[in-house]
Amino acid sequence: MATPKPPTNPHPTLEITKLEAADIDAAIETIQLAFAGDPFADWIYDRSKFSSKRNHASLTIRMKWGMRNGHVYVAHTPERKCAGVAMWVGPRPLEEKPTWDDWWQDWMLWFRQLGMNTRFGRGGLRVKRYYLWKESQSKLQSSVWTNPEGYWFCNILAIHPTCQGQGIGKKLMNEVFDIADSEGIPCYLESSKFEPNVKIYEKMKFRFVKEVKCDDGDGACTLFSMIRDAPGKGGEGESSSEDSEESGGGDGVVNAVTP
Ligand SMILES: CC(C)(COP(=O)(O)OP(=O)(O)OC[C@H]1O[C@@H](n2cnc3c(N)ncnc32)[C@H](O)[C@@H]1OP(=O)(O)O)[C@@H](O)C(=O)NCCC(=O)NCCS
Repeated sequence: MATPKPPTNPHPTLEITKLEAADIDAAIETIQLAFAGDPFADWIYDRSKFSSKRNHASLTIRMKWGMRNGHVYVAHTPERKCAGVAMWVGPRPLEEKPTWDDWWQDWMLWFRQLGMNTRFGRGGLRVKRYYLWKESQSKLQSSVWTNPEGYWFCNILAIHPTCQGQGIGKKLMNEVFDIADSEGIPCYLESSKFEPNVKIYEKMKFRFVKEVKCDDGDGACTLFSMIRDAPGKGGEGESSSEDSEESGGGDGVVNAVTP
């Protein structure tokens, strides 16, 4: 007997909204489940000391920062309050200096993180690796970010494990692709999983540009960077997939992990 095919549109009533405070807990649950076993998370955290409470507090700070300074979208299905979450930081021209407001928001973030560390400690975070990662990421971005108007940067994308492979990630990403394409601005992301993520993102018109290995001598993690060009803009001159480098500074981008 033939195996029944999965429905072509398993979520006809999928709703995508901007993240609101009431969605944060469900969004965090989805992120934590989606990243269980992720190579980057396993490298940067000592899992034997991992504190889910500290991680929850850290992600809450990130989500609130994202609501104020970024663009956070959540996918809701009738069965699940947060089937997926995508956090983006909008483009900033490469030569543009941060504004006073950016500076103030960064300080606020820093104080909140300090409060969190005072309360929960590091929760298994390998701080040395955190700074190695930030340095590598900064070098990676400096080498592949060539568009003068900047990039839409997707720094969190997580689909609940029970909802993966059902088209939700693509729909969630389309919210920003539509804006980016109309502005003529490319999109950017980094993944620590080559398989299957590079293939998945290629389906969303990203191209693999460069990888960087973060290695502290005790363990390594590789970041794969991908760019999605705006329609009609080829992105020639950027690094090719053959380029790769060992990790090498600076900060400047808000990510999913808090030092
Ligand atoms: C990676 C992730 C965000 C993708 O979201 P998703 O909802 O599962 O992906 P979609 O169902 O929208 O799939 C998009 C496309 O990739 C294809 N695809 C999905 N899973 C695939 C797989 N395992 N292998 C190959 N292709 C796959 C789909 O068929 C679809 O192609 P189509 O446009 O031709 O139909 C999600 O799987 C996830 O959260 N993974 C764990 C956490 C993670 O790795 N996050 C990303 C960090 S960068």
